[in-house]
Amino acid sequence: METVRLARLGEIAIATIDNPPVNALGQALRADLARVITDAGSDPSVAAIVIAAAGRAFIAGADISEFGKPPVAPFLPDVLDAIETCTKPVVAAIQGAALGGGLEVALACHGRVASASAMLGLPEIKLGLIPGAGGTQRLPRLIGAAKAFPMMLSGEPVSAGKALELGLVDEVTGGDIVAAAVALAQTLVAGGAPEDGSDGPGRLTAADREAFEALATEAANKSGDMPNAMALIEAVRAAFTLPFTEGLATERALFMTLLADPRSKALRHVFFAEREIARVPGIDGAVKPRPIAKAAVIGAGTMGGGIAMCFANAGIPVTLIEQEQAQIDNGMNRVAAIYEMSVTRGSLTPQKRNERLALITPAVGLGAAADADIVIEAAFEEMGVKQQIFGALDGIAKPGALLASNTSYLDVPTIAAATKRPQDVLGMHFFSPANVMKLLEIVRPDGVADDAIVTAMALGRKLGKVPVVVGNGFGFVGNRMLEARTRATERLLVAGALPHEVDAALTGFGFKMGPCAMADLAGNDIGWRSRKARGQSAAVADAICEAGWFGQKTGRGYFLYPDGARTGQRDPEVEALIARVSQEKGVTRRSFSADEILSRLLDPMVNEGARILEEGIAARPGDIDVIWLNGYNWPAWRGGPMHWADTIGLGAIVARLEAQAAETGDKALEPAPLLRRLAAKGKGFADLKATTA
Ligand code: 3HC
Repeated sequence: METVRLARLGEIAIATIDNPPVNALGQALRADLARVITDAGSDPSVAAIVIAAAGRAFIAGADISEFGKPPVAPFLPDVLDAIETCTKPVVAAIQGAALGGGLEVALACHGRVASASAMLGLPEIKLGLIPGAGGTQRLPRLIGAAKAFPMMLSGEPVSAGKALELGLVDEVTGGDIVAAAVALAQTLVAGGAPEDGSDGPGRLTAADREAFEALATEAANKSGDMPNAMALIEAVRAAFTLPFTEGLATERALFMTLLADPRSKALRHVFFAEREIARVPGIDGAVKPRPIAKAAVIGAGTMGGGIAMCFANAGIPVTLIEQEQAQIDNGMNRVAAIYEMSVTRGSLTPQKRNERLALITPAVGLGAAADADIVIEAAFEEMGVKQQIFGALDGIAKPGALLASNTSYLDVPTIAAATKRPQDVLGMHFFSPANVMKLLEIVRPDGVADDAIVTAMALGRKLGKVPVVVGNGFGFVGNRMLEARTRATERLLVAGALPHEVDAALTGFGFKMGPCAMADLAGNDIGWRSRKARGQSAAVADAICEAGWFGQKTGRGYFLYPDGARTGQRDPEVEALIARVSQEKGVTRRSFSADEILSRLLDPMVNEGARILEEGIAARPGDIDVIWLNGYNWPAWRGGPMHWADTIGLGAIVARLEAQAAETGDKALEPAPLLRRLAAKGKGFADLKATTA
């Protein structure tokens, strides 16, 4: 099937790209586009060519799924060269998204018209890359490097209006985009054959170079672990220092090197995993969500207030419910204070703050949930409390309303059993702070209706979250794996590592925070209470809590936080306490390298992830990766725990887990059967097919 349709409007040839879903520049499209340009270019009856597109995007860029496979001609730079050197004017009619290679196609054209709703950008940086088909050479020539460089460095698209202001497009139209492009093409024809503008310096002036170099220095200082920012600087600099064709060659060489970098591979994995989560195994894509016009949140604590803010921020009216007036007053004050902070920081206007606050109605008593299309319970994490609330809601909520619990650990079917409508009951696990964190685990117990899950997914996206459907089971996916890491931290401390060493291994890996600093931030008493409730112990963590060192809120935990400091300092007393625990357990402490600490923290998580997959709690390894990236600050360029495991090799992880299990006698460290099976076949998690959640 052809991916480009050719039509004629008088002497103008109109090439319409039609390669669903988003006109990515796969091999077939590149070949068809090259052929159409060559044919129309050599047809004496054609005076100019318009490149238009069908569907929701102009062109979404190179086909990312082809990256990593052997490249097949024609290559995009050659297609763009054919467009640019065409003796007849070529005009891009940009509607929807023109991203990456898509914008590079438009840049190679001789004129560009955009529809008012178009978005234009070079997002390659987000995939660990830089533009690879002339973007770093053509964009600076067109709009100046001082404007082009920040666009490529952030990867954020600009609106059509902004593109016009930047000089990136010649015209913006609210009307028929193809008609506007044809009109521009006719103007260009009347003005004679287009010049090949690529040779000239364009806006690359000395002043522009100076401004670019200042931005480049700033970017180089911030570039961290990603090599592509440095490559981008080099490529844009080449636009000033090298002739156009040599600049293109420099860019391409840098692009190809980055393409082979494991960090880009990880980011590409994340791109597809974040899209795959929308497909829930076992649920037909045609199932429609229920309408959600009004919400209610039960419990105005930190979590409930944060969830109510998510609704208000998305423009959905929400009733925030407590048992007593004083509690709801406190809750509303907390919400107002958070909005006030945003106003002070300048990220929210006072008017928007007022609008959002007006969408939250405080109420006392569950009766206020009667008109809500969804009720989210964010009350105390105790089964009795939840069952009582859901039992009452059964008699209050309107038929078909979704009843969701924000539980982090509890059994959702047991909560649902308190109602006579299990088809409407599910888990919606938000992460703290709920108004900030992107992750939303949607817990799908047996018996819940498919359209309830679809509704929760659609709502999650509307709230700006990354919703991932998970199966029911203690701690679901994220917290269950976190617990494996928490146990590993305790084991390391007893065996000889110190809190700052454990944390440094993880921050060195790319996390913003290590497990000890994280526990101090969340409050050590939370885990302590939960262990006690389950009859479990952790000698070091328990002793720290018994001393009253609950973390930042008490000024000390694993670390010291003098005078309200946010970053902890080493605490000799805690280190002595840890040494004492080791002694009591008869452990001879030894030192651990950062690499050893890392594998001891992460391998058990991967093992737990494998069990989660076997049990069907997560549908795909990529779902687990998306959860860890969006809820637990796993560095995106490491691709998530399951992708990371594949890069290490499952055989190596099995061997390390076996050694740890033998050393500690801890059965939980024995490799999961799935891990063993995959390792034995020399396979990775990426080789698994989706299972039912
Ligand atoms: N390559 C391959 N597949 C792509 C793709 C691409 N560039 N862009 C989107 N898709 C696929 C998605 O995987 C998804 O597939 P699925 O339905 O099977 O899951 C489908 O298209 C729809 O994508 P979205 O769900 O993201 O659709 P939206 O309507 O929400 O968003 C979009 C559309 C804004 C175009 C968004 O898809 C997007 O941002 N795409 C990626 C843009 C990008 O990064 N381009 C740069 C590529 S690198 C490049 O061009 C290098 C060059 O310089 C040489």
